[in-house]
Amino acid sequence: MVNRKVLTLDEFTIFQKRQFASATGELSGLLRDIGLASKRINVEVNKAGLVDILGDHGSTNVQGEEVKKLDIYANDQMIRVLQHGISCAGIGSEEIDDFVIFDDEVSLNSKYVVMFDPLDGSGNIDVNISIGTIFSVFKRITPLGTPVTKADFLQRGDRQVAAGYVIYGSSTMLVYATRRGVNGFTLDPAIGEFCLSHPNIKCPPTGNIYSVNHGNYYQYDKGIQEYINACQQKTKSTGGPYTQRYIGSMVADVHRNLLKGGIFMYPTTRDKPKGKLRLMYECNPFAFIVEMAGGRATDGKKRILEVEPNDLHQRSALFIGSPLMMDELEKYYPLA
Ligand code: AHG
Ligand code: MN
Ligand code: MN
Repeated sequence: MVNRKVLTLDEFTIFQKRQFASATGELSGLLRDIGLASKRINVEVNKAGLVDILGDHGSTNVQGEEVKKLDIYANDQMIRVLQHGISCAGIGSEEIDDFVIFDDEVSLNSKYVVMFDPLDGSGNIDVNISIGTIFSVFKRITPLGTPVTKADFLQRGDRQVAAGYVIYGSSTMLVYATRRGVNGFTLDPAIGEFCLSHPNIKCPPTGNIYSVNHGNYYQYDKGIQEYINACQQKTKSTGGPYTQRYIGSMVADVHRNLLKGGIFMYPTTRDKPKGKLRLMYECNPFAFIVEMAGGRATDGKKRILEVEPNDLHQRSALFIGSPLMMDELEKYYPLA
């Protein structure tokens, strides 16, 4: 029996749209399309241990990193739904070197561009650990009816219209943010629908979790090392010791900290002087979501959402989480 009191993702977005007389429904359509792609990805992710879809795809992506088959499958599904929908004029993906223009009549007249990481944490696929999909939505700045250009994609994060992620975990969840707030939907496998399970998500002002790759400790700046040391001690300033949690899928790590309160860090290292994570489809969407939930996000120098992008695949350091923990970090590692 379907519980009629539970709002599905489609019902929720239509309900939201109705509150705005001027809304065209294109954003609702976009979220529905992404929800559909993520259900298809979810089916394959859940079969990952059973079918011969595991292992390297035998190619490297534009970042020079190993590509797994599921990355490609997820990328294809995202492109397919967005290209065939009525809301998206072009995409940028971790798996594709350049942005992609959708040049059919309907797409040329669509108002959004979407950037995504089709499968985040893909190194965790073979070991049954949560992975995800991350997306960022901008309104195009070029005129409707024309092909999108690089300028439509390289917009500052504070111009995002919506951003979200899907986590393929102990349950599958889709969380998305608009300027009106952050809402989470859990996939009910019995009916194949995302159902509103976490309305109006708020990031706790503080928490007791810090998430960082400790293996890189000796490659971090001194201020970060000192903050990490403080996290491990019962000091007056941090109220620690905190609990350390880091599984190497940022979707899962940031999702947990968003719900429970915590801080996630991927600082620059000697080997990765620009950081590892990608601004346009990892840092920006999470910065938007976490800020809309009351948290903060910086690259260690400035607010992520104010960073001027110059490349689709540009990397960034990331510090993100509960606002009081971010304040504490900045006593050790002040913003430039
Ligand atoms: P992706 O699988 O899309 O390449 O992203 C992996 C990212 C991110 O999810 C995670 O937080 C980070 O890489 C982990 O990096 P380290 O193994 O260097 O800690
Ligand atoms: Mn990723
Ligand atoms: Mn990825």
